[in-house]
Amino acid sequence: MNSEIEQLRNEINKYDYHYYVLTDPQISDFEYDKLLQKLIQLESQYPHLITPDSPTQRVGKDLTKDFKPIQHLLPMLSLANTYDESELLDFDRRVREGLPAQEKVEYVVEFKIDGASVSLRYANGKMISAATRGDGIIGEEITNNAKTIRSIPLSIDAHGLQDFSLNELEVRGEIYMELEDFRKLNEERESKGERLFANPRNSSAGTLKLQDPRIVASRPLRIFTYYLLSDKDEFKSQSENLQILEQLGFRINKEFKVCSSIDEVIEVCKKFEAMRDSLPYEIDGAVIKVNSIKQQKILGSIARSPRWATAFKFKPKQVITKLNQIKWQVGRTGAITPVAELEPIFLAGSTISRATLHNYDEIKRKDIREGDFVIIEKGGDVIPKVVEVLKEKRETNSTPTLPPALCPVCSSPLFKPEEEVAYYCINSECAEQIKGKIIHFASRGAIDIEGLGEALVNLFVDLGFLKTYADIYDLHKRKEDLIKIERLGEKSINNLLLSIEKSKEQPFSKVLFALGIRYVGVGVAKKLSEFFLSIDDLINADEEEISSVYEIGESISKSIKLFFSDKHNFDLIERLKKSGLIFYTEKKVIGDSPILNKSFVLTGTLNELTREAASEKIVALGGKVTSSVSKKTDYVVAGEAAGSKLKKATGLGVKILSEEEFLNLIKQ
Ligand code: IVH
Repeated sequence: MNSEIEQLRNEINKYDYHYYVLTDPQISDFEYDKLLQKLIQLESQYPHLITPDSPTQRVGKDLTKDFKPIQHLLPMLSLANTYDESELLDFDRRVREGLPAQEKVEYVVEFKIDGASVSLRYANGKMISAATRGDGIIGEEITNNAKTIRSIPLSIDAHGLQDFSLNELEVRGEIYMELEDFRKLNEERESKGERLFANPRNSSAGTLKLQDPRIVASRPLRIFTYYLLSDKDEFKSQSENLQILEQLGFRINKEFKVCSSIDEVIEVCKKFEAMRDSLPYEIDGAVIKVNSIKQQKILGSIARSPRWATAFKFKPKQVITKLNQIKWQVGRTGAITPVAELEPIFLAGSTISRATLHNYDEIKRKDIREGDFVIIEKGGDVIPKVVEVLKEKRETNSTPTLPPALCPVCSSPLFKPEEEVAYYCINSECAEQIKGKIIHFASRGAIDIEGLGEALVNLFVDLGFLKTYADIYDLHKRKEDLIKIERLGEKSINNLLLSIEKSKEQPFSKVLFALGIRYVGVGVAKKLSEFFLSIDDLINADEEEISSVYEIGESISKSIKLFFSDKHNFDLIERLKKSGLIFYTEKKVIGDSPILNKSFVLTGTLNELTREAASEKIVALGGKVTSSVSKKTDYVVAGEAAGSKLKKATGLGVKILSEEEFLNLIKQ
């Protein structure tokens, strides 16, 4: 029986390979299904014969609860970018300077596929794990999800590659979605009322991180592999590696070119850019790699990118469309921002109907008017912008755009702080501001109330259930009224009230971020909550003390003082406290930390650690980091070329540590 099963698997693997890797189907879907059904039936009869690399095991039933961290054999580096010819010439010069004089350099130019990178590990010919890039050093294990991608072989055959052992290897590549598949997927999602993906890249990266491999299997993901690594084998060149990958049954992109000069590389980059729009998938540039692996090793890497490779980024895609209307929107801070309503047009994977206009100054500078034909660009990110107006196509009766006069929502007067470009609605009770503040408060990175999204907040504000975010914690008192709201019902209200209750466990830093203080983003909130251990400490601190916190500037501390000086905000905090939200940081009990409660100033260049890492270590050990030296400072860590802060510390008699002394002090 074993041999019959074995034979069926080989046959199915062969057909999979032809279908998914070579995109050259050999049999009909019907015949293929028959083979697969037969295998499923035999395996259910003889379950002890099931192996993890059987084609039936591509889709597991188990959900992934947490993606486990997995360390890459070698860091997954990222690439430095070049944008024009001269930068490519510089790259070539640096490469040649890094190699023995007169050595010839060959380059391989490949498509830069716009997807999500993965690393696949094989041992004894079987795939044993798959991981996302993560931070480049540690990724997340996504083996079950990667197994569902049929162009990824679960077992490889090193037959005919006698020169290599290919026993332990790591293969890297890009998971992507074809444009047509992406369009269909979004169409389906739209018909089901689900959130749309912004572009094929986000959709691939998001899919890889889904908990349910069955959903992953239903999404049309594909792979192009481009990197081969092995402990045991010495490889000669990137172009040969691509061939080896192909022979092993991996899918590679055949459009790579070997070039013997940088001029040739530039030619190929131009050619690739011209091909861009006719490809069935998205590429956002070309990748240029030194072909010889020996030369790659000599060149090595700096920081997170190799010296032997670079990316040539294409110009963002542009289209021309008509700007129908300029709408003014009110944000949660009351800032009024202009948005362009466009004649819908397809660009880089999705249909665009709006673009950001940033602020009135930008409108004035580019002289953007309603009815204009404009060039729209979608850069690396998702939000499109107006690059330029086609003035020659403008109607003769067109008039310049005026700044907003009144708040478009509540008709209150506007004001414009002198040092800013934005106009603000002066009415803090403006419905749109209230909604914005509550949406921010409840959002994922903030207090995180599942189920209380934009639509529900808008509804609750319109119906008068919410006037401030503190009202969220009184919603349970009005449960009966809430249940009566059409479309909601008891079950969803119960779930909502449960998530509201759960949100009370959010740590102080998240609560602080949720308050929506201007300039206090996630990172700033974290730093403040580590320094000031409670909201009362923060409220009582003066501006100078706040801006003495490492990396907290004057505008942040001003904005914090302004926020707390408003009685209305003060009352909100009191109410949130009464509702049970956490307004203090629980200091970890740190055994006998030598630096508990000691305050540090870091100055000059450190060699062993970055300043960021040093400051994280200090905070982790219960110390504090401030940016300016005062009598209260316990230690100044002086790196190379330390200047005025070191001088001030000497004057004040503050203890000064060299980097080495500092490292000794925190060594545990
Ligand atoms: S090589 C050191 N080749 O671009 C080598 N990367 O920042 C690094 N990418 O994270 C990767 N197509 O996700 C390489 N043909 C290609 C690529 C490619 C797309 C992605 C990859 C990487 C990023 C570079």
